[in-house]
Amino acid sequence: MKEQIEKVRLSALEELKNAVDIEAVKVKYLGKKGELTQLLRGMGQVAPEERPQIGQLVNDVRTVIENAINEKMTALKAQETERKLRSEALDVTVPGKKIPVGHRHPLAQTEKTLRDIFVGLGFTVAEGPEVEYDYYNFEALNLPKNHPARDTQDTFYITDNILLRSQTSPVQVRTMEQTRPPIRVISPGRVYRADPADASHSPIFHQVEGLVVDKGITMSDLKGVLELFAKRMFGEQTKIRFRPHHFPFTEPSAEVDVSCFVCGGKGCRLCKGEGWIEILGCGMVHPFVLENCNIDPREYSGFAFGMGIERIAMIRLGISDMRLLYENDERFLSQF
Ligand code: DAH
Repeated sequence: MKEQIEKVRLSALEELKNAVDIEAVKVKYLGKKGELTQLLRGMGQVAPEERPQIGQLVNDVRTVIENAINEKMTALKAQETERKLRSEALDVTVPGKKIPVGHRHPLAQTEKTLRDIFVGLGFTVAEGPEVEYDYYNFEALNLPKNHPARDTQDTFYITDNILLRSQTSPVQVRTMEQTRPPIRVISPGRVYRADPADASHSPIFHQVEGLVVDKGITMSDLKGVLELFAKRMFGEQTKIRFRPHHFPFTEPSAEVDVSCFVCGGKGCRLCKGEGWIEILGCGMVHPFVLENCNIDPREYSGFAFGMGIERIAMIRLGISDMRLLYENDERFLSQF
């Protein structure tokens, strides 16, 4: 009996050494049907005078095994804690990951500057649809069907009467139809033309339209507004010059140049030796256009202007190819 008890003690301690499931070991040796309990059951065969001694021995071994189990559990727990601490360790000296922060696209920057300048002059922002009626894009602007000026603004037709607007000028008509003078609006937006993409053309680009209608508006108001705009956009020293031109929806009409802000007018690469850079078209709103919108040209007059946002951005930022603005190449965009 004594040897059996000793065997149980040894095998229990041995098993514990490498045990992962301590609970199973506990059940195996100390449980109701465990090996030690089984031994106690066999006490009947032990001589009565030896029983107390054997009983004591079994109890001692039970205590030894229990203690060993508790120690092992504590050790495993400590191991586990240690493992966790190691795996979750945070090295506060590791440099942080840099999160790239984007910024406004150069076209959006330019549009925002334009908006800010004109809003600062008391203009509000009007918007119009990109899918437009022929009537608003051409007819109401004094460009009847078969008018030769339509050629320069060939666009994409959805039906004979519905097209992708080729200019922001239709917003003039929509605004004059919906509100009464005094009117002071700008209208930035996307426009379309059936032009193949090259360094200075794109089938989709952006314009800003401007329109002022009130009593007694003259060409000098137009000049004053554009002069202020040019100075804010290109620098205080900027001068403007009007060249006679023709647009069907304005009379008289002009194209406006700004003095080259790189060479100051002496002639350089940017202005192609001219000293001047063309930036927009403008004029006094044609009486026919006012009439189309039920505004009496004998009572009211107005001026309008329109410019390409790409063109302004390219001049201002020194961009030589328009396509760069649409390619979304990080290496290009991050320069602005
Ligand atoms: N819509 C013209 C274009 O796309 C630009 C323009 C010229 C707009 C004169 C105007 C204007 O409002 O008065 O070429």
